[in-house]
Amino acid sequence: MEENKTLPLRTGATQLVFGEGNPDTQLYFLGEAPGYYEDREGRPFVGQAGKLLDQLIESIGFRRSEVYISNVVRFRPPANRDPEPDEIAAFAPYVDEEIKIIKPKIIVTLGRFSMNKFLPEARISAVHGKVFKVDWNGKKQVVMPMYHPAAALRSTAILSTIKGDFQLIKKALSDDVSTIEEQSTSKNDQSSQLSLI
Ligand code: URA
Repeated sequence: MEENKTLPLRTGATQLVFGEGNPDTQLYFLGEAPGYYEDREGRPFVGQAGKLLDQLIESIGFRRSEVYISNVVRFRPPANRDPEPDEIAAFAPYVDEEIKIIKPKIIVTLGRFSMNKFLPEARISAVHGKVFKVDWNGKKQVVMPMYHPAAALRSTAILSTIKGDFQLIKKALSDDVSTIEEQSTSKNDQSSQLSLI
């Protein structure tokens, strides 16, 4: 990634922000893009949203170092703007490779950009905290969409929701993947019945 000079957003960023954590984990958290502090430190989720993410991870019995934390985009977008679809696409092969190596039992997406990678039609307000099994690179992958921790810092209602949603990760972790019902990601199905274990 360091050598790939075609990657977007490089010129405005201080440095690449790789994923970090335990590559043998069952839990892979996928956020959006580095912000100011991540760009400065070269590590994902080290600002205010990161502090909240750490607390949420601890609330389900893990230390940050025991899980893996990454982003769909690895350079900070200017002024923390939303990443563009072509930017997300440019980093996707690296994210996919990371997932292939880690083989997590559950991918927890944080916010809509990482959710839409696996559930392109989904709306976060409809699917947060639910468990999906998607076809991913030739295998079934369990995905749990969560609100982004930064959204929880702006809204006490979302904070309370995300705290509850995180507790559902514990149950999904203890369930056998083969018993998790497969869900469709089409809009129609989502509005009626989606998810769940
Ligand atoms: N928000 C993200 O989505 N990722 C980070 O690394 C930090 C904030």
